[in-house]
Amino acid sequence: MTQHVFPAALEPAPGTSGSEIVRLASVTRRFGPTLALDDVSLAVAEGEILAIIGRSGAGKSTLIRCLNGLERPDAGHILIEGADIAALAERELQPLRRRVGMIFQHFNLLANRTVRENVALPLKIAGEGRRARDARAAELLELVGLSAKADSYPAQLSGGQKQRVGIARALAARPKILLSDEATSALDPETTQQILELLRRINRELGLTVVLITHEMEVVRTVADRVAVIEAGRIVEEGPVWRVFANPRQALTRSLLATVRPQLPRHIAERLSPVPGRAVVLRADVAGPGAGRLAADAEAALGRPVELLHGGIDHIQGQAVGSLFLEIGARNEGEVERITSVLAARGAEVEVLGHV
Ligand SMILES: Nc1ncnc2c1ncn2[C@@H]1O[C@H](COP(=O)(O)OP(=O)(O)OP(=O)(O)O)[C@@H](O)[C@H]1O
Ligand SMILES: [Mg+2]
Repeated sequence: MTQHVFPAALEPAPGTSGSEIVRLASVTRRFGPTLALDDVSLAVAEGEILAIIGRSGAGKSTLIRCLNGLERPDAGHILIEGADIAALAERELQPLRRRVGMIFQHFNLLANRTVRENVALPLKIAGEGRRARDARAAELLELVGLSAKADSYPAQLSGGQKQRVGIARALAARPKILLSDEATSALDPETTQQILELLRRINRELGLTVVLITHEMEVVRTVADRVAVIEAGRIVEEGPVWRVFANPRQALTRSLLATVRPQLPRHIAERLSPVPGRAVVLRADVAGPGAGRLAADAEAALGRPVELLHGGIDHIQGQAVGSLFLEIGARNEGEVERITSVLAARGAEVEVLGHV
C-alpha cells in the first residue's frame, strides 16, 4: 500500500491517547440529495473501543462502511494506519480488507458451509492452503468457545453461536481493526452480554481496535471506551463514555441516553411548579472523586438541609458518575441562584427542574 501524506492542516483529535489507527478527515458521502456523511472528522486510537450512536438514518452504517472500503467517500480522507484508503483503487483495497474485519447484525454466514468453512473462508479467498486454514479455524473456534461445533451448519446454531462464528471469521485474517454494525441487536440480553464479554476479551488479549454501532446504550456503557454521537451525517458530540454519560451536552445525546441515566420519578415531576415556593428541586450531574460528597458539601456550605430525592452514584470506566435529584429549601430566585452557584463551584452541572 502506498503511504499518502497526511494533510498538515489537520489537528490531532482531542481526547485520544496512544497512537492513532484510524482517522476520518472531512469525509462527505452523498446518496443523491441525501448527505449521509457531512464533513465528518473522527479519530480512533489503537486498542480502544469506540461506540457510534445516533438515530436511524443518521449515517452510522455509512461511516463504518467507509472504514473497510465498502463505501467510498465523495470528499475527505480516510486514514487507516496512516494510509489514505479514499485514494485507493478497488483492487488496492484487498490488503485493507484483511486489516479490517467486520461483524453484522444478521451474521451473514453461508448456510451451505460448515462452521469451520465459514471461519476459514476469508483465508481461502486470500489463497491460503487447506492445512493453514484448518489450523487457523481451529484456533479461532477455540477462542470463541465453539470448537465442538466445527462441523455443524449455521442453521444448527443459536443466534449467539452464529455471532461467535461471525466474530471468528472476522478475525481469520488477523485484522487490527474490528467493525461491528449492530452485532448484538438480534440477540437476547444475556447472549448480548456474552458476546460483549467476548469482544472485550478480544480487544484486551489481541489488542484489537473495535468500532461498533449500537442502539443499545447499555452496550456503550459496558464495553466502550469512547462514544461518538452522529446526527444527520455530522458528529455532534464525542468523548470518554464516563464523561458523556455524566454530562451529555447535546439534547440528542441526553435523549439517546435517557434509558441509562436516572430520570426524576414522574410523581415528583408532576408536583413541580415553575415559580418559587418552599424549596427548589434540581438535577446535579457530577463526575470524579468528589461526586459522592456533593450533597454533604452543599449542605455544609449552604447551612440548610439538602434532601436526596432520587438518583445516586454510578461507576463507569472506574469513574464515579453522579446524577442527583435534590430538594433544597429556597423561597426566591436569589436563593435558588446561590444554591446553583454553590453546586456549580463543586463541579456539578445543575439544572433547575422546578419548585415545591
Ligand atoms: N446505498 C444507498 N443509497 C441511497 N441512500 C442511502 C444508501 N445508503 C444509505 N443511504 C441513506 O443515507 C442515510 C444514512 O444511512 P445509514 O444506513 O448510514 O444510517 P444508519 O445511521 O446506519 O441508520 P440505521 O440505524 O437505521 O441503520 C439515510 O438517509 C439512508 O437512507
Ligand atoms: Mg445502519
